[in-house]
Amino acid sequence: MIKIDWNNLPQHIAIIMDGNGRWAKKHTIGRVRGHKKGALAVKTTVRTCREIGIKYLTLFAFSIENWGRPAEEVEALMFLLEEYLTKEISNLQKQGIKLTTIGEIDRLNPSVKEKLLQAKESTVKNDKMILNLALSYGGRDDIIYAVKKIIQDNNNGKVDINEINRNNFNRYLYTCGMPDPDLLIRTSGEYRISNFLLWQIAYTELYFTKVLWPDFTKDDLLRAIVSYQKRERRFGLTSEQL
Ligand code: FPP
Repeated sequence: MIKIDWNNLPQHIAIIMDGNGRWAKKHTIGRVRGHKKGALAVKTTVRTCREIGIKYLTLFAFSIENWGRPAEEVEALMFLLEEYLTKEISNLQKQGIKLTTIGEIDRLNPSVKEKLLQAKESTVKNDKMILNLALSYGGRDDIIYAVKKIIQDNNNGKVDINEINRNNFNRYLYTCGMPDPDLLIRTSGEYRISNFLLWQIAYTELYFTKVLWPDFTKDDLLRAIVSYQKRERRFGLTSEQL
């Protein structure tokens, strides 16, 4: 029995969905079918987060580095994303979920981009949960763009460099307006961040599981939340000060 403290849920969960390829290998099928099964795990996870009252869910769906994968795999991932958007938009709507993205959306092919814009537009008023897809996203790139925007704003007289500090830098990041993740989950037994949210995870609790992403279930998510709830978040202070 997985016992959750419903008064101490993470507000923002971020997930590195890893292991689709290994799952496919284990089942002696092609990598693309692994991603397809991974897309089903996305649906379950979104539904669970919405049901239990998670406010923000950020999924690492496609990294900047993933552009370097074989063309057929990149195409298949884009197709799956488009299919997900086409099929799920009404479900997101019904569940009151707002879709947002972080990353270089302009690099996506025009039809995926179009679907994405439609999905964002039609869910913009929803406020039960934010589903934030990281697409063509890289944490270092996020920071570099932010620095460039600050320089631009400074040159245009919109901001004084001395005003920028660790509390307001976020307004220049893709995640502007979102709280930092409380919990970051990575599946498939790898202990890396892989250029995901770098600035934003300064005080995030990290949870690694050996479960491959296509096998990730509601119970796996609940187990990650239980682990998070056992941690003492001190943000650099002592226990006594909390
Ligand atoms: C990592 O597995 C996963 C990805 C690169 C992409 C994640 C995509 C999905 C879960 C499916 C589509 C997404 C949506 C939002 C519909 P990997 O290929 O690196 O696995 P491996 O390390 O075992 O090879």
